[in-house]
Amino acid sequence: MPDSVTASSAPLEFIDLGAQRRRIGVRMDEAIRRVVDHGRYILGPEVTELERQLAEFCGAKHALSCANGTDALGLALMALGVKAGQGVIAPSFTFAATAEVIAWVGATPIFVDVLEDSFNIDPASFEAGIATAKRLGIEPVGVIPVDLFGQPAAYDEVLAIAKANGLWVLCDAAQSFGAAYKGRPVGTFGNMTTTSFFPAKPLGCYGDGGAIFLDDDDTTAVLKSLRVHGQGTDKYDNVRIGMNARLDTIQAAILLEKLAIFADEIAARDKVAARYGEALGDVVHVPQLAQGSTSVWAQYTVRLPAGRDRDAVAVRLKAAGIPTAVYYAKPLHLQTAYRDYPAAGNGLPVSERLAGEVLSLPMHPYLDEATQDRIVEAVRAAVA
Ligand SMILES: Cc1ncc(COP(=O)(O)O)c(C=O)c1O
Repeated sequence: MPDSVTASSAPLEFIDLGAQRRRIGVRMDEAIRRVVDHGRYILGPEVTELERQLAEFCGAKHALSCANGTDALGLALMALGVKAGQGVIAPSFTFAATAEVIAWVGATPIFVDVLEDSFNIDPASFEAGIATAKRLGIEPVGVIPVDLFGQPAAYDEVLAIAKANGLWVLCDAAQSFGAAYKGRPVGTFGNMTTTSFFPAKPLGCYGDGGAIFLDDDDTTAVLKSLRVHGQGTDKYDNVRIGMNARLDTIQAAILLEKLAIFADEIAARDKVAARYGEALGDVVHVPQLAQGSTSVWAQYTVRLPAGRDRDAVAVRLKAAGIPTAVYYAKPLHLQTAYRDYPAAGNGLPVSERLAGEVLSLPMHPYLDEATQDRIVEAVRAAVA
C-alpha cells in the first residue's frame, strides 16, 4: 500500500473473492488438481456428485448442471417446447438473459412491472401482461419470475395466477439459489428453476456455470439430451436439436468445495445485510424481505431518496474507496434490443423509477464489522 493511502481510505472490493480463497484456497487447488490428474474433463465424476449434492441441498428431485445460467434458461425453454407465436411473461427489471432466451426460441417476451419493495414481479402486472399478450394475438404460455438480488419472488401469487391461466412457471433463480420462501428452498417452485454459478453469484465457480432444478423424470431426460447436442441413446444418432451446454468437471470440483461452506456463507451474508439495514434505514430505502422469505443477498441494493443525484453519490463513495454498482440502469423494455416487444398495460412505471434510484453496495460473506462501519459512514456522508 503506498504511504499516502491509509487502511481506512484504501479502495475496497465490491465482492472480495480473495477472502474466500484465503479460507478454502488449498482445498480448492487440491480439488482442481484431482481433476487434472484423472483427466475426465467432460462430465467427469465431480459433475455427477455436484448434481447429487445440489439436488439434496435444495430438495429438488433432479439437479442438472450446465454451462451457465443463460443456457440453463434456454435449455428449459427448449424442453418446454416454446416456439414462435407464443408469449412468455418476464419482469423488465432484470438482467438481459431472462428475456434473451425467450427470443432465442422464437417466442415473444412480454414485459411486466415489479414491486418496489422486493424488486420482484408484480402479480397485478403479471395479470395485465397476460391480457396484453392475448389482445395482441400472442398465446401466453409461461412466465419467468426472477428472484432479484437474492430474494424469492411472491411464489404463492405467481403460481396461482399461472395455474388459473394454464401457464408454466420457470423460476430464474440465478441470484437466489440458497434462499427460501415460506420455509421452502428455491429450486422447488414451478415447473423448473434455473441458477447461475457466475463467479460473482453467491455460489459462484471460477468461470461460467449453471444448473436446472426439477422434479419431472421425463423432462430431466430431455434436458440431459439437449445439453449434449440432442443426443439419443446412440450418441451418433441425435434425436433432437440441442446445444453444447455442459458444465466443465473442473468447475464442478470447485463448486463442490464452495457448496461445503455455502450455508455458513449465507448466514454471514445475512448478518452483513442485517447490520446494513439497521445502520442505513433512516437515510436510504433499505431492501425489505417479505414475511417468511430469506435472501442470499446476491446484491445489497438500496434506493436513494427521490431527487438524490445517484451519480454524485456514487462519485463521493468512490472517492472514499467504496465501490458501488447500478443494477439495473435501464429496464429491458427500454433497451435497444428489446424495446419493440410488448409491455403490460400502460407502461412499467416502477421498473423505470427503480432504474434511476437503485445503488448496490459491497456485499460478500467476509465483510468484517469495521469495514461495514466504514461503508455505512461513507454512505451516510454521501447522501447527506
Ligand atoms: C437474473 C439473471 N438471470 C440469468 C442470468 C444468467 O446467468 P449467466 O451469467 O450464468 O449466464 C443472470 C446472471 O447474471 C441473472 O442475474
